[in-house]
Amino acid sequence: MKLDGKRVLLTGATGGLGWEAALAFVRAGATVEALDIQPEKGRRLEDAASKWGSLFYADVDLRDLQAVAENLTSIISARGGLDVLINNAAIYPARTFEEYSLEEYREVQTVNVEAAVACVKALLPEMKARRHGRIINVASVTFYGGWANLYPYVASKGALVGLTRAWAREFGPHGITVNAVSPGAIPTDAEKIHPDPAGYNQFVLDRQALKRRGSPEDIANAMLFLGSDYSSFITGQLLNVDGGWVMH
Ligand SMILES: NC(=O)c1ccc[n+]([C@@H]2O[C@H](COP(=O)([O-])OP(=O)(O)OC[C@H]3O[C@@H](n4cnc5c(N)ncnc54)[C@H](O)[C@@H]3O)[C@@H](O)[C@H]2O)c1
Repeated sequence: MKLDGKRVLLTGATGGLGWEAALAFVRAGATVEALDIQPEKGRRLEDAASKWGSLFYADVDLRDLQAVAENLTSIISARGGLDVLINNAAIYPARTFEEYSLEEYREVQTVNVEAAVACVKALLPEMKARRHGRIINVASVTFYGGWANLYPYVASKGALVGLTRAWAREFGPHGITVNAVSPGAIPTDAEKIHPDPAGYNQFVLDRQALKRRGSPEDIANAMLFLGSDYSSFITGQLLNVDGGWVMH
């Protein structure tokens, strides 16, 4: 898939899925603005990308919505606009309902949802002016139920699905598409801390129609499609990339 000359902004770019997505867009010819709070990994990501094209890492803490707005404004003016926004960063602390404080709940919503709103606020005027834009929100299979002790995260993913539909309706007349990718359980570093890796692996395979584990490349491919001109007539959709776990 070719995205030559496209300018892409990806949050959570040094994470398990973000890393592969960032490199996939660079390999497809796009220039990637990679945001995260892991400067050392950010430098390594820039190095890894340099053999194919351009990736610029910026250290931006999504809890600071003012900093998000300022950084996006300066990126937009430096690049002359952005074609694709991928709201990928997330935090997912796991505790029981009683163990969560209201502050922790709010922090999850700030990083996972409000930062996405801040990015769209900063980007929208320029996308509207060019009558072109692709916004991709990253949801989760957990939104369909099946996981306890994650309620702030699951709520945040529900909010992103709602935003996807509301924004698609509102921004469609301006030539901007808004879609979401819902990854299944993709084995990344986060999964390695599971107390029973073999049992968890089997739990996932039992639920999938396809009997192999997904990979970060599988998610990156869906993002590439939704960021490209091949998806120009698709908006407001939630694309499950989960090996046939959820089928609606
Ligand atoms: N890996 C999976 O199996 C899976 C499944 C369903 C959904 N997802 C979703 O995919 C996306 C990527 O997940 P992942 O597996 O790569 O997770 P990850 O934890 O590896 O990556 C998340 C990235 O977000 C960054 N981040 C966290 N807080 C931040 C902040 N305050 N400011 C800036 N950056 C911050 C982290 O530094 C990290 O690099 C998330 O939205 C996640 O909910 C992942």
